[in-house]
Amino acid sequence: MIPESFIQELLARIDIVDVIERYLPLKKAGANYVACCPFHSEKTPSFSVSPSKQFYHCFGCGAHGSAIGFVMEYSGLGFVEAVEDLAGQIGMQVPQQRPDERRQKAAEAAPLTEFMARAAKYYKEQLKASQKAIDYLKGRGLTGEIAARFGLGYAPDGWQNLAAVFPEYQNKALVDCGLVIEGDAGKRYDRFRDRIMFPILDGRGNVIGFGGRVIGQGEPKYLNSPETPLFEKGRELYGLTQARVAIRDEDCVIVVEGYMDVVALAQHGVGNAVATLGTATTPTHVHKLLRQADRVIFCFDGDNAGRKAAARALEASLEQVADNKTVAFLFLPPEDDPDSYVRAHGADAFRKLARQAMPMTDFLMQELKAGKDLATAEGRSQLVHAAKPLLGRLQAPLLRLQLVKLLAQASSFSQAEIESLCGLPAVVRKAAPARSPRGTPSPIARKLLRLIVQQPGLAARLSADLIPDGHAETEALDALIAAVAEGGLSGEGFGMVLEHFRGTPHEGLISEILGELVEQEFDEESIEAVFADTVERLRQAGIRNEIDALNAKNKSVGLAPEEVRRLQQLLTQKQAVKPATPA
Ligand code: UTP
Ligand code: MN
Repeated sequence: MIPESFIQELLARIDIVDVIERYLPLKKAGANYVACCPFHSEKTPSFSVSPSKQFYHCFGCGAHGSAIGFVMEYSGLGFVEAVEDLAGQIGMQVPQQRPDERRQKAAEAAPLTEFMARAAKYYKEQLKASQKAIDYLKGRGLTGEIAARFGLGYAPDGWQNLAAVFPEYQNKALVDCGLVIEGDAGKRYDRFRDRIMFPILDGRGNVIGFGGRVIGQGEPKYLNSPETPLFEKGRELYGLTQARVAIRDEDCVIVVEGYMDVVALAQHGVGNAVATLGTATTPTHVHKLLRQADRVIFCFDGDNAGRKAAARALEASLEQVADNKTVAFLFLPPEDDPDSYVRAHGADAFRKLARQAMPMTDFLMQELKAGKDLATAEGRSQLVHAAKPLLGRLQAPLLRLQLVKLLAQASSFSQAEIESLCGLPAVVRKAAPARSPRGTPSPIARKLLRLIVQQPGLAARLSADLIPDGHAETEALDALIAAVAEGGLSGEGFGMVLEHFRGTPHEGLISEILGELVEQEFDEESIEAVFADTVERLRQAGIRNEIDALNAKNKSVGLAPEEVRRLQQLLTQKQAVKPATPA
């Protein structure tokens, strides 16, 4: 855990404009800056960055957040990594509560990154010097331009070539980053020898690993960096950095199996392809991809292994896909992979296939039906039995309902039967993003949240007993008032407010409210009046509730003398003040 005070100080010291400008060209427009949104595809800029609020917001897709949130979403970093990245930019040291483990990890990672960069540079130089390696790449249809774009290199034959690049060849870090292997007798040698080198980059563009291909035949065909403090295979995607612009332009990303598939597709002008790194697709991969584009197409070989890989990708997608996103599956002819296909048939033919990719629900139904005899009652029951765990994991409500309908048709159960057999709620619930489902909404509390977020000073004037409980909004309001009272939100800006609530049950609601405020701000002048009016309405509502309760008690068991007095007092108060605007 990083202490909250550090987060607040970090946000106070960085400027979100500088942070975002590292990734996107921003243009000044009035008090704010604008750009084309990196999180959805668009031609005219609706992505806005506010220096005064320290907050970004896209008027097109609704993405918004603090500087930390931006780095997380854009680079696919975790919270801690994003904080470390930002702190590093301005020379702040992140305090750690588990000092040994984390500090050690960070201290280990820094030299590793530098070693990987040095190695990548060396391999690139060696490629220029090796006719054999150049011929191999040319033979596979690649130009120098594409080789440069992907930073391809060559690790020459020989056991200790890297010793010439790293005078510190005995340094532990060289083993830690996977470039060097230490044998039994403590003797060291280069991991990659006589191989074409594919550097793997992280979201910041640092080299974090390599894939090395034998030239011609040999085993293993690809040798990969091991998992290291820099390189976690289940998170990373090969080619994402190079593909980012094309993915955004097409609002579509194609996921293939191999390094060469990505590079060959790019060579033919299909720039929006990435590859998983010899591992099954993970939910983290899918989450990352769906942040970048509305459409994700998994393109696997037409063989048995490809089908298995697709089934894994399908499972990883269930919890990630939303109703406004598409996940689809493209199966190539059994003899082809994307590399051979695009070389034989060209980019247009490949794109055409991609457009016809099989939607996720069709593929899911196909997988579920496989091997079951739907002409029998047993087969139809097995179908629903197999669907049950998958349906439960599918989070997109509309898509899930569609699937229920398909299952109903195929199984001759009714839709309601499928829903109850699979333990699904019978009615479609509204897809509320990360919002606490507690109670009914409270529009008054929501308005107060909006006001106090804009002017934290108002919190002191709102007494806690006025706020009823049982609504998500009122609970968030309590938390906001407490935060202001503790001085937790002393700084300016929405970014800080949002970060204060990160990881709390109120995060979704607060985030929603900040987005609303950016789109439709209260006029500064009217805040005071709106606040006074809202508080008065809240007070009146409290009085009405108490009167109702006392009246009800009077009817059932009667009232004590002091309760009668209280009721009279309340009735006078109720008449005394009328709200300025109708409630
Ligand atoms: P493939 O065997 O399909 O190779 O492996 P490919 O991509 O078609 O490669 P070329 O065209 O023969 O050069 C697909 C992916 O699986 C991983 C690699 O990531 C590879 O790109 N793989 C494969 C390994 O990690 N090691 C291997 O030995 C083979
Ligand atoms: Mn291939």
